[in-house]
Amino acid sequence: QTAKITARAHTNIALIKYWGKKDEKLIIPQNSSLSLTLDHFYTDTTVQFDENLTKDHFSLNGKDCEATKVSAFLDLVRQKSGLDLPARVISVNHVPTMAGLASSASAYAALALAASTAAGLKLNKTELSRLARRGSGSACRSIYGGFVEWQKGHDDQSSFAKPFIEAPTWDIKMIAIVINAAKKKISSRFGMQHVVQTSPYYPAWVESTEQDLALIKDAILQEDFVKMGTLAEKSAMKMHALNLSADPHFNYFEPESLEAMQAVEQLRADGIACYYTMDAGPNVKVICQGQDLETILAKLKQHFRAEQLLVSAPGPGATLLERN
Ligand code: DP6
Repeated sequence: QTAKITARAHTNIALIKYWGKKDEKLIIPQNSSLSLTLDHFYTDTTVQFDENLTKDHFSLNGKDCEATKVSAFLDLVRQKSGLDLPARVISVNHVPTMAGLASSASAYAALALAASTAAGLKLNKTELSRLARRGSGSACRSIYGGFVEWQKGHDDQSSFAKPFIEAPTWDIKMIAIVINAAKKKISSRFGMQHVVQTSPYYPAWVESTEQDLALIKDAILQEDFVKMGTLAEKSAMKMHALNLSADPHFNYFEPESLEAMQAVEQLRADGIACYYTMDAGPNVKVICQGQDLETILAKLKQHFRAEQLLVSAPGPGATLLERN
């Protein structure tokens, strides 16, 4: 038996989106991306390798689950460490139930740190980021806190995240508006693959995203909120435009997603700086400054129940928790 190791990783929301792979197996992206790690939503994962087990076991939020994906990821750790034992993996998502915000980003970042540590590997953050990436692309960014850039690279060695501003000093908030999907979810894995293969606009996405990334980095360094928010919103809508231009087309919008976006646009028309972003699901996330939070929440409460509005701030990178 190895030591029982627990790691915590927080989820992240991309301001410049990752959408499309160059290498499906190694998860090498077509474009670099930039995200904000959040303080409110995280995953705690405990890993112990154990010779008394006959196969890997995985439980999520107290329920036994299919371990296939976790096993495939643990295989990478077993290869690297030479430790050829099955493991017990216990994961708990700390997101309000039903929020639909449990993300593969926090999951694989926590698993990468816990499993590699339990297996006796002492990976540095770059190596951890590369490992987490193999589970889910966006997970490579959750190794770090604050604003994080995933430099696309060109192979396994060169594709990893780097901190951009780990502990931002400006008062940024993100409001997740929880919207339940009526339609079947299209996974980001499938959605982005389909877009790369069929959208005539894909080359323009790759090209313009490189520019957006350079511009948003300037905006963040200057703490220019309007510029940052405008670019983030634009990146998200370009990503969703790719989905609309795929063949066959698809989208993640629900009527309530559009209602949320319109509410944000109205707030802006009233002079409040706030911007939205959306990922591979119907939830809308609103980026704003702390000073405007209450005004924005009051407006959103005209459209949504208080339980649908989850506020978070920039959060920390992945860490080991005390031995348990
Ligand atoms: C829309 O990281 O979930 O959230 O690499 O296939 O696991 P895989 O995809 P994933 O995709 C995230 C897509 C996104 C944008 C982003 O986080 O950059």
